[in-house]
Amino acid sequence: MGLSQEEIIKQTEKFVQEFMRPIKEEAHKFGHVDRVRKWALKIGEQEGGVDLFLLEMAALLHDVGRVTETSEIDHYVAGEKIARDFLLSLNYFSPKEIDLICLGVRWHGAGHKEKLVKILQDADKMDSLGAIGVIRTATFLGKKPYYIDEKSFTPLNMSQKEIDEKIKQRPWEKSIVDGLNFCLNFSQYFNTETGKRLAKEKTEYLRNFIQQLKKETINL
Ligand SMILES: [Fe+2]
Ligand SMILES: [Fe+2]
Repeated sequence: MGLSQEEIIKQTEKFVQEFMRPIKEEAHKFGHVDRVRKWALKIGEQEGGVDLFLLEMAALLHDVGRVTETSEIDHYVAGEKIARDFLLSLNYFSPKEIDLICLGVRWHGAGHKEKLVKILQDADKMDSLGAIGVIRTATFLGKKPYYIDEKSFTPLNMSQKEIDEKIKQRPWEKSIVDGLNFCLNFSQYFNTETGKRLAKEKTEYLRNFIQQLKKETINL
């Protein structure tokens, strides 16, 4: 008897949890992966037109490359290799299914028209918004000043192309607020209607947080 989908998910969870243990930043630990998986399923269920099992697999594996990324190989490319090796070792999925899951891992940042990829991108963005978005950014950029000043970079005033240029080495993150503005900027780029709708509450929360912070700091 072959394994059930539930058993495959359990094995994958276990693998990812173990594999990602060396990651020190709270923002990118397994908790993030788990939330992205839950958002992916919520969006996928409501959006339709996607295999939820393969979507969940892609969500679980999407950030494994964070462990082995280097300055030359980013976590998208590094992650695809780790995911493919793991999926082959399971001896469960067809080559086509493996390709689709790996497509999600490779392109979860941006690009690609495949529905599963689009949903995964939206789910990943979701974890940069709302209260969790605030705390992830604050811990990730913990060594930077948190306040807004005139030198602060505001992605909201820039085109996506300008942001893409800047983000390559992240030289623009002068403060935690830069990071928060960057996350808020994300909210304009949801792919799916479901993602857009589900992100509303978190987007408003983040927008209000930034305004409140400004009120309590530079506008005091
Ligand atoms: Fe990622
Ligand atoms: Fe992620």
